Amino acid sequence: MIIDGLEINSPEYWELRHQREPWPRTSGWAMDIVTKQIPPGASVLEIGCGQGAFAAKLLELRPDLYSVTAIDISPTAISLARESFPHVIDFLVADVFELRDHLKGESYDYIISIQNFEHWRLDQQPKAMHQCWTRLNHGGKFFFTGVGKDWSLDIMNATEMEFEGKTIMAPNDYHYNNWSEQEVYDLFMIHPCRAQSVKFWRRRRKNRVIAEATKA
Ligand SMILES: C[S@@+](CC[C@H](N)C(=O)[O-])C[C@H]1O[C@@H](n2cnc3c(N)ncnc32)[C@H](O)[C@@H]1O
Repeated sequence: MIIDGLEINSPEYWELRHQREPWPRTSGWAMDIVTKQIPPGASVLEIGCGQGAFAAKLLELRPDLYSVTAIDISPTAISLARESFPHVIDFLVADVFELRDHLKGESYDYIISIQNFEHWRLDQQPKAMHQCWTRLNHGGKFFFTGVGKDWSLDIMNATEMEFEGKTIMAPNDYHYNNWSEQEVYDLFMIHPCRAQSVKFWRRRRKNRVIAEATKA
């Protein structure tokens, strides 16, 4: 899917967006859950952190964490994050599809992804999940949020795209899919992670699917 002449899952698309758009979101509905879930002393990784507001707020609310590392593919996003929050967060330019070989070999107790996966193609999503899983400690947890399926809106705004040689309908022109709980469960269970358990939270405000999977 193309916006401004750029494929929406490409690093160039995100770089342009971060150059044009301030990104102050701290996603309070996710923050409320995450701050209650993470155990004291945990090492935390946020993927697709944008301009760093969520990670910075998390550390402000939970100074008892061992460390917070936050990555994004966009150099502009990361340099804005470092400028805005010049404290102990490790902000790094990194590609989620290459995590296995990056992050100095570190692994984490808690990995967070807020609204990232629907921006990757359906065949990329399990790969991204698997890469994150390689960086998660045993007993660690992966926290996921995604835009929930809303059949009426999805159909109204649907746009055609090619996937594996077939034309399928994506819910809009910047998401490859929106999520049902079953699809999030499949991401953790059917794809290479095989989580020990997956817990869902009720969507409260907005149309979000919120889940946490535990690594055996
Ligand atoms: C929809 S934004 C979500 C940002 C933030 N998590 C939030 O909720 O506001 C997706 C983010 O993922 C980043 N991103 C896209 N592809 C990536 C990749 N392959 N590796 C790491 N980050 C990526 C983008 O630069 C962007 O900041």
